[in-house]
Amino acid sequence: MSEFSVTPTPNSLHGIIRVPADKSITHRALMLTPLLQGETRIENFLDSETTRATLNCVRAMGADIQEIDSNTLRVNGRGLHSLQEPRDVLWCLGSGTTIRLLSGICAGQHFLSVLDGTPALKRRPMGRIVEPLKQMGATILARDNDRFPPLVFRGGNLRGIEYALPVASAQVKSAILLAGLFADSPTTVHEPAPSRDHTERMLRAFGVDVSRLTEHSVRVSPPQRLETGDWRLEIPADFSSAAFFIVAALLVKNSELRLENVGLNFGRTGLLDALTRMGAEFEIQNPREENGEPIGDIVVTSAELRATNVGGGEVPRMIDEFPIFAIAATQAHGETRVRGAQELRIKESDRVVTVAQELRKMGAQIEEQEDGFVIAGPTKLRGARVNAHNDHRMAMSLAIAGLIADGETIIEGWECVADSFPYFSTALENAGYAR
Ligand code: S3P
Repeated sequence: MSEFSVTPTPNSLHGIIRVPADKSITHRALMLTPLLQGETRIENFLDSETTRATLNCVRAMGADIQEIDSNTLRVNGRGLHSLQEPRDVLWCLGSGTTIRLLSGICAGQHFLSVLDGTPALKRRPMGRIVEPLKQMGATILARDNDRFPPLVFRGGNLRGIEYALPVASAQVKSAILLAGLFADSPTTVHEPAPSRDHTERMLRAFGVDVSRLTEHSVRVSPPQRLETGDWRLEIPADFSSAAFFIVAALLVKNSELRLENVGLNFGRTGLLDALTRMGAEFEIQNPREENGEPIGDIVVTSAELRATNVGGGEVPRMIDEFPIFAIAATQAHGETRVRGAQELRIKESDRVVTVAQELRKMGAQIEEQEDGFVIAGPTKLRGARVNAHNDHRMAMSLAIAGLIADGETIIEGWECVADSFPYFSTALENAGYAR
């Protein structure tokens, strides 16, 4: 297990930062481009442990993907019905996105596939995808009463369904929409609140009829085939990785950072809204759209923060940002409350528990709730030995806490940053961090 040591930075943070490519979009690109008819050049893909898991899985189903260089892939798409029965278990490592989205695709295939992963993945709930995919007609078996991996599929002959998600989840929505590509009639998904819509946008870019019926409902019609021709897909920088630097710039005095080419999908940017209520100011420069995704440069400067409440429809829009949001909340004046965020308990770690436990070691005043937490601030944090709990977002959030704490912070289990941001420490140095 590796460790990372952080001490308070004597310098403020400045400059232009490029964080890694979007994890969610990279997974989707790896799954969908092999189903096109023609060649796709995927530029600026995220090369991380979890996206490698997806790459290996789709290759095991016959996808022809070549690595041109460390940033670029060439995918020789062979069509919507070109996948083949894998000879071995599809190993999804610890990646919830890999197993849930691939499940949607496997449900639509006439062959046998088995999806499994690490002990941490085996604890992630799968009943939420098994149930709708079974309703569509797939045969699925899973451990512990169809609730946990491994998942065994014999798919095909799917029918379109109308399904109301019990919780807002882009992974579950995507699994159903992807299965809908292989169904005999349209499939409609209703969500309690909008979640990220990368799958819908990418499918639309590839010529699939995906209509947003209301803010909460989307319908996909099964295509004859996906778009033909040659494609160039450039993946934007990951908002969730940018989030660490956004909060770092806010908290380290006299800082100004510019984060370039960041994906600004509405389902991802709830953190900006919450921090704006807390007194932060952001400038979005060069707003544009690429392959259907909104992108821009975010300029952020240090600010005094005040407490706010987060709940309702904002929760899915910042679902991966609560660990770093909690760090910001420790420095805000007043009591910050997060409600309606039970989903935090089933992420890479139980983030209600791990955020509270690790921040308390640094002196934060934080109270766990069933569906979130309450943080009182501002508190001067103190350096401590903390643990990442095999959760990349916890590891990096604790590193940002270390920048503003007294003394040394040592983060145990640092290696998990490879899940989404393998060069995080170099990026931090590029922003001006010095010991
Ligand atoms: C993701 C959706 C979110 C998020 C995860 C990636 C995606 O999960 O937490 O990191 O790529 O669709 P849920 O949809 O389960 O909330």
